Amino acid sequence: MSHPLQLTPDGRLRHLLSMEGLSKPLLTDILDQTERYAGGRGSRGRKVPLLHGKTVVNLFFEASTRTRTTFELAAKRLSADVINIQVASSSTAKGETLLDTLKTLEAMQVDMFVIRHEASGAAHFFAQHAAPGVAILNAGDGRHAHPTQALLDMFTIRRHRGEFSKLKVAIVGDILHSRVARSDIHALRTLGAAEIRVVGPRTLIPAGIEAMGVTVFNDLDAGLAGVDVIMLLRLQKERMVGAFLPSTGEFHRDFGLTKARLAKLPKDVLIMHPGPINRGVEIEGDVAYGDQSLILEQVEHGIAVRMAVMAMILGEDVRREA
Ligand code: NCD
Repeated sequence: MSHPLQLTPDGRLRHLLSMEGLSKPLLTDILDQTERYAGGRGSRGRKVPLLHGKTVVNLFFEASTRTRTTFELAAKRLSADVINIQVASSSTAKGETLLDTLKTLEAMQVDMFVIRHEASGAAHFFAQHAAPGVAILNAGDGRHAHPTQALLDMFTIRRHRGEFSKLKVAIVGDILHSRVARSDIHALRTLGAAEIRVVGPRTLIPAGIEAMGVTVFNDLDAGLAGVDVIMLLRLQKERMVGAFLPSTGEFHRDFGLTKARLAKLPKDVLIMHPGPINRGVEIEGDVAYGDQSLILEQVEHGIAVRMAVMAMILGEDVRREA
């Protein structure tokens, strides 16, 4: 799915729905803008008046802690007014219901919706029906995309490695259910990573994923040999309708990142995880907060990257193209 919908006719960001269709210069520009907000010491929590008078609604149909909170902090640090709406949704929620929600909230003069929904394509649907001048940010739709997570992941990698062209990255675990994996793969490809591997049991790797430009490994040690970055994913038990795995214990034995496994790899291998982590399943607790782990840095960068995206979309007058 490509989304020309998310760009203005002159190629600027109008909505943020997916990593697909965003060019390398645009992604690089977002990461550069993020630098302004990630800052060093002293910039922490500083408020800027850029979105003063704008209203942002966090519309979450799925549970979330870090994504919702960091979107809220980002909007507040840009001086926008923020409203959080947590909607209990059933998997049968229909397009019409979504549309009614959108139109009702639009009538309240909202400038931006941050939407998370269990259905792939929900953010895209919102963007198609949004009034001119109303922007949609996808905070995760089904298994499809989680673009701000990919951006914060790219920002974190760039801060540690500088550039992408020599980078070998392994994305490990539950690829099948992961919108994060899909968005990270698109972003890494666009930014020119040398090699992208997906590593996991056959049942958790989508058929035909090689077409995305990745190499598949079903053995963890082989998949991790020679990589610079390990991106772990949460085992998404809530999305596992069928029997994908014999047991989480077995998954941990075969695909869990343990201290013992890590000891066999170079000391500068970076470890990432979008959170929330399942301790003792995809990652051992000691590894999650060990020296090589960037997990908390990812959370912190989530605020800066979301500030950058909101500022790029709303800071320039989106109504101009209306
Ligand atoms: C991810 C998500 O919700 O897609 N988490 C997040 O946004 N930090 C990954 C997950 O739920 O495992």
